[in-house]
Amino acid sequence: MIVTIDGTSASGKSTTAKEVARKLGFVYIDTGAMYRAVALYCIENRIDIHNRKAVADVSHKIDIRFEFGNDKNHIFLNNKKVTNLIRTEEVGSVASTIATYKYVRRNLVEKQREMGRKENVICEGRDIGTVVFKDADVKIYMDADLIERAQRRQRELERTADLQSVIESLKKRDEQDKMRVESPLKIPEDAVIIDTTHLSIEDEVEKVIEVIRQYEYDKKDERR
Ligand code: DC
Repeated sequence: MIVTIDGTSASGKSTTAKEVARKLGFVYIDTGAMYRAVALYCIENRIDIHNRKAVADVSHKIDIRFEFGNDKNHIFLNNKKVTNLIRTEEVGSVASTIATYKYVRRNLVEKQREMGRKENVICEGRDIGTVVFKDADVKIYMDADLIERAQRRQRELERTADLQSVIESLKKRDEQDKMRVESPLKIPEDAVIIDTTHLSIEDEVEKVIEVIRQYEYDKKDERR
C-alpha cells in the first residue's frame, strides 16, 4: 500500500507521517529531507545554488539513505549522518530554491520511486500524490493557518528565531512551493484534506489512520 501526505511547510506532515508509519509498521519516506540533503551538500561544498546544472549533478551523484533507529528517522548523505544538520532555516530555504529545478526533481523522484517499491510506504512532501505516486492508494493533504504553522516552526527551532521572521520565511516558502513551474504544491484531486490548525499530533495521527482503515474496509467490501 502507498499512502501519500502532501501539504504546506510546518503543517504537521512529518510528525504525523512518522508516527503513522511507526504504528502501522510502514516504511516512512521524508522527501523534503532529500531536497534538504542536496541543499546542505551545495552549502558545505560551496556549489553555486543558482547554477542549475551543477546542482542537478549533485542530486544525481550523492547517495541519500534513510535508517530508522532509536525512534528517529536518520538520514545519511554520502554515509555521513546529517539528520540534525539539514533542519536549519538556511537549509530549508535553499532546499525550496533548488526544488524548483527540473533535473533536480527528476533525479530525486527517481530515488523516491525506487524506495517506494517496498511493501507498505507512507511518503510525505509536496508533489507525492500529484507526481511521484499518482496511483497511490490513499492521498492526504495537510494545511494549517500561517500563524499556527509559524508558532510550531518557532518551537522546533527552540525559539532561536523571532515569530515575525518565521512568518515571513514560511510565506516565502509557501509561495515558492506553490508557484513554481515544476510539480508545484497543490491538492491532489482525490485527496482527503486535513486542516490541522486546531488538532493535536494525536488527533492528526488518528485521522490519517482512520482514512487508511476506511480505504482497507472499502477495498475488502469491493471484493465481497
Ligand atoms: O518539507 P520540508 O520543509 O522538509 O521541505 C523542504 C523544501 O523541499 C520545501 O520548501 C520544498 C521542497 N520539497 C519539494 O519541492 N518537494 C517535495 N516532495 C518535498 C520537499
